[in-house]
Amino acid sequence: MEMNRGKYILIEGGDGSGKSTQVELLHEYLLKKGILHVTTVEPGATELGKIYRRIIKGEASTEGLTNIAELFTFLADRAQNIKQIVSPNIESRNWVISDRGFPSTFAYQGYGHGIDLGFIQEANRLAMSVKETNYFPDLTFIIKIDPQLGLEKSTDKSRFERMGTGFHKRVLEGYLAFAKAYEETTIVLPHEINNQSLTHSRIVKILEERFKI
Ligand code: TYD
Repeated sequence: MEMNRGKYILIEGGDGSGKSTQVELLHEYLLKKGILHVTTVEPGATELGKIYRRIIKGEASTEGLTNIAELFTFLADRAQNIKQIVSPNIESRNWVISDRGFPSTFAYQGYGHGIDLGFIQEANRLAMSVKETNYFPDLTFIIKIDPQLGLEKSTDKSRFERMGTGFHKRVLEGYLAFAKAYEETTIVLPHEINNQSLTHSRIVKILEERFKI
């Protein structure tokens, strides 16, 4: 059973942590290894997700979006991503590498905005399930960056970047709490200034050890 499924791997971290570069490097590595895979991103990987993304990023006259409405928008985006991209690929033995996923909701909506974590976990379980199968990630890498540095590095000045350091400090706290709560499937890596290849080699080493690839 297990052999016939792909692995679902998340790359996570605060804004400016270099996640998308790591997704790209991992994509190249898996290509070389001949491991079939797709990459995805939250929010905004599917057609509907692109609409949700515009709402979330404040590009679609969404002034006044409440924190709760924002939570449900992320979950709606995730439900589409799981149903349309993650589940079919995992079931066809492809790996799925995702730029963000549930840990972002745990950290940003749970810790950043202070929405009830028990509720977030329950609602997320629904968003990540297709029929009886729950597509919880096999492994999550969290790139830990100092929130102030992350904000300085981020060129994007949309909704979340405007939230200020207090918010981003809580997000980091949330990521570390996630790593504790889901310790068997979460690895925290330090952000390496100007050394993306070091982070990449750490990720590869762990994948090779864990999944015998
Ligand atoms: P994006 O431009 O994709 O940022 P990044 O390049 O940093 O990934 O914007 C997505 C923003 O949404 C980002 O600031 C993190 C936030 N987010 C949440 O608050 N909750 C979530 O569940 C997800 C997936 C993202």
